[in-house]
Amino acid sequence: MNRLGVHALTRRFGGLVANDSISFDVPVEGISAVIGPNGAGKTTLFSMISGFLEPSEGRVVFEGEDVTGVAPERIAARGLVRTFQLAQLFQNLTVLENVKVGRHIRTKAGLWAALARPAWARREEAETERRARELIAFVGLGDQADARAAALPYGQQRLLEIARALAAEPKLLLLDEPAAGLNHDETERLSGIIRRIAAQGTTVLLIEHDMKLVMNTADRIVVLNFGRKIAEGTPTEVQGNPQVIEAYLGGVETPHV
Ligand SMILES: Nc1ncnc2c1ncn2[C@@H]1O[C@H](COP(=O)(O)OP(=O)(O)O)[C@@H](O)[C@H]1O
Ligand SMILES: [Mg+2]
Repeated sequence: MNRLGVHALTRRFGGLVANDSISFDVPVEGISAVIGPNGAGKTTLFSMISGFLEPSEGRVVFEGEDVTGVAPERIAARGLVRTFQLAQLFQNLTVLENVKVGRHIRTKAGLWAALARPAWARREEAETERRARELIAFVGLGDQADARAAALPYGQQRLLEIARALAAEPKLLLLDEPAAGLNHDETERLSGIIRRIAAQGTTVLLIEHDMKLVMNTADRIVVLNFGRKIAEGTPTEVQGNPQVIEAYLGGVETPHV
């Protein structure tokens, strides 16, 4: 059973084909990654999968259901949640508040309940807070729960974004360059966090620039170049693929191995 099926997804921006008939499956188990040089079409692909961008052609199937063109918040409610290449946090809220916001997709209390605070809404709020604290500890920010998001160094903001995404209880978590801006130690820690997320049953699909992280963390890799899928396989298979080597070495950048 696949968690996700990407079927001939195409996206054009005017004359530019940012994604050209991309197809692949993401199995339930493990960690999958999409790699490729800058401008290859990775973020465009994620935006189509998560409902933020309409495909020009093709289909997205999540948990066996066609979700092509479904609004992002409804896709998230079904369990497909993404993070962004640049952390998008509520900078003026605390760490704890940011994660609680992420969970509201799973709670019943609307505005009236938040104001009237009946007993069930107070219980729900207590549970939201308990779970949020658990997730903050999980990503290693346990002692920063009351700090404002804006006060965190960038690396910790990225971890906070992951905690917030987890609060929505995703079945499939899409991470767009989670290691961007992280130092070596933070990247190692991130790799462990991603593995634990997958071990707990959440399928992970990540876009990553840091080759070391990808090769150490992913079970399978899809490689994009100029909007096309050029290779797919295990880290070992992909690393030895001449087209992949050419895409990186022949292009404007080299992999940071
Ligand atoms: N909203 C947009 N409008 C026009 N062009 C875009 C838009 N988003 C992405 N592109 C173009 O599509 C290509 C793929 O971009 P992107 O998906 O961001 O690549 P990656 O994430 O692999 O670096 C790039 O050439 C980029 O300039
Ligand atoms: Mg990108």
